[in-house]
Amino acid sequence: MAINWFPGHMNSTRNAINDRMKAGLDVVIELLDARLPGSSANPLLAQLTAGKPTLKLLNKQDLADPARTALWLAHYNSLPDTRAIGLDAGNKAPAQALIKACRELAPLRGGMVKPVRVLICGIPNVGKSTLINTLVSKRSAKTGDEPGITKIEQKIVLAEDFYLFDTPGMLWPKIAIEESGYNLAASGAIGRNAFDEAEVALELLDYLRRHPAYLDLLKTRYKLGDVAGLNDEELLTEIGRKRGAMLSGGRVNLQKAAEVLMYEFRQKVLGAISLETPEEFLAWSAVAAEREAARLAKAADRKKRIKGPATRAERDAALAAAEAQASSGADDALDDAPGETPV
Ligand code: G4P
Repeated sequence: MAINWFPGHMNSTRNAINDRMKAGLDVVIELLDARLPGSSANPLLAQLTAGKPTLKLLNKQDLADPARTALWLAHYNSLPDTRAIGLDAGNKAPAQALIKACRELAPLRGGMVKPVRVLICGIPNVGKSTLINTLVSKRSAKTGDEPGITKIEQKIVLAEDFYLFDTPGMLWPKIAIEESGYNLAASGAIGRNAFDEAEVALELLDYLRRHPAYLDLLKTRYKLGDVAGLNDEELLTEIGRKRGAMLSGGRVNLQKAAEVLMYEFRQKVLGAISLETPEEFLAWSAVAAEREAARLAKAADRKKRIKGPATRAERDAALAAAEAQASSGADDALDDAPGETPV
């Protein structure tokens, strides 16, 4: 899917995370959308904070399919140096569980001399401000800049020996997994001007109808009969008709139908739905990695053809091959020369 966007604070946030890594960091809290945990994980964050223990907070779990949230929590909790907790804005006192999990991830830290230093990150709209506002109680405080640290970083003292460092929500420039692009758009993480709503709505429908429990939710909400014979566009047309998204002349306004579907998905009017399971996401990642590897190989090959061999070793090998070919050609010529005896 084409996403026409500039991923906002990316560079300044990247610098802030690099600065935090240098200044000292014990645990990374990654705030994820429980409806799309894999797709809402920023691959840049994993690169920038490689090797640090991670607490995955699956936020907005009130909107997600509880059975799938359980699968994701089990998946993350089985990974080394990783803990996962489900969360939503209805939880008015999330600090205790969050601090406990971070302390478990950094058992050698704690106490005034070695406070636990935690970085919290998440994509825009995942609910980070809401969570931080809940965390910032009378006892905690946001404090000013530390020397040498980018100004956009906020330090929140959650306990005497527990510091939370907050950075602006960050997206990444190229979404390699096609399904992730659709899921981020459907969830509302990407501004609506950056993508084609009808295309995203059609993909959403395609996903929902392939999962029987979600197809039932669609049928119930839009009072649909048997939809097996309809393609995605016809199904969206039917939904538009049922919800009164009409143009003059009795035609259905597909754009309006797409907006209605997306709105009702986001607001949980359809029901509790998650857009991916760990298994699905791993399969999508594998396909994307293969596609990326093929693309890189093709690009390298093209570069080589245009510019010649890239490394010295490759140049030497190419030269040796050319010389060998030339000398064997000369030998052949000698062989072929009449009346001459090869030396
Ligand atoms: P951000 O800082 O990560 O960008 O996100 P923010 O906290 O601003 O939250 C983005 C939207 O998500 C807000 O809704 C917020 O109310 C909603 N939200 C946050 N946490 C949860 C949650 O756990 N469950 C649900 N259902 N929603 C959550 P909004 O419509 O943009 O604003 P508003 O209507 O709350 O004013």
